[in-house]
Amino acid sequence: NQANQLNGKKVLITAGPTREKIDPVRFISNHSSGKMGYALAAEAKRQGADVVLVSGPVQIPAPSGVEIVKVESAEEMYNAVLTRFDSADFVIKTAAVADYRPKITHDYKVKKQAGDTTIEFERTKDILFELGQRKTKQILVGFAAETNNVEEYARKKLLAKNADMIVANNVKASGAGFGTDTNIVTLFKRNGTMTELPLMSKTAVAEKIIEEITALLKEMNKD
Ligand code: PMT
Repeated sequence: NQANQLNGKKVLITAGPTREKIDPVRFISNHSSGKMGYALAAEAKRQGADVVLVSGPVQIPAPSGVEIVKVESAEEMYNAVLTRFDSADFVIKTAAVADYRPKITHDYKVKKQAGDTTIEFERTKDILFELGQRKTKQILVGFAAETNNVEEYARKKLLAKNADMIVANNVKASGAGFGTDTNIVTLFKRNGTMTELPLMSKTAVAEKIIEEITALLKEMNKD
C-alpha cells in the first residue's frame, strides 16, 4: 500500500539526542533513542522518498536505503540540516536537540576539587525556528516533547516556529516518548485541527504522520 506515493520527494529527518561537551570525557545529553525518527525515515523510504536522516548518537541501525549523516552537537545538527534544507520537500524534526550547551568546553579533563561546582550554559541555535524563517515550499513538521500543558505548548510552538504540523507527545505518559517502542501523540495542524492518536507502535505513528504530510503536499499542489 502507498508504496510509491512519495516517489521523487526529498525528505530530511532528524533523530536522536545531541551531545554537548563539557570536556573530552563528559557531556550533557538526553534519553532519545532515535526510534521515533528512524521509524519515520523507514516509512518515508518505504513510500518511495529520497531520505536523508541527520542523526545524533544512537544505538540502533539505520533503515536500509536511507542516507545517514551522523552528528553530535546541536551546532553540528544545525549545519547538517541547514545545508540540506533548500532541496527538501518536507522536513521532520524528531531530534531531541539540546537547548543549552556548556559555555566553555575544556580541552582537558576537568579535575575534581573539594566542594561543589557549577557549569555555565548558553543557548544553542533553534534549528526548527530557523527553518520556519527560511522555508519556501517545504512542509515543516516539528515535535513537542512536553510533560504538562501539552496542547497549549504545542499550539504555541506551531505558530512560534512557523511549522505546518506539530507532533506532540506527553513524555511522562507511560508507553510514550523517550526510549519506548510505542508512542502516544497528538497532531496539531495550522488549520487548527487536532488529531489525538491512541497508544501505537512508533512504526504505526510514523505511518500516520507521513499520511498527514502526504495530504498536506496534495493540498499545496492544488493551489
Ligand atoms: O528518540 P526516541 O527515544 O524514539 O524518543 C522520541 C522523542 C521523545 C525524542 C520524540 O518523539 C520527540 O518528542 N522529539 C522532540 C524532542 C524535543 O526536543 O522537543 P522540544 O519540545 O524540546 O523541541 C521542539 C522542536 O524543536 C523539536 O522538533 C526539536 O527537534 C526542535 N528543536 C529544539 C531545540 C533546538 N535547539 N532546535 C530544534 O530544532
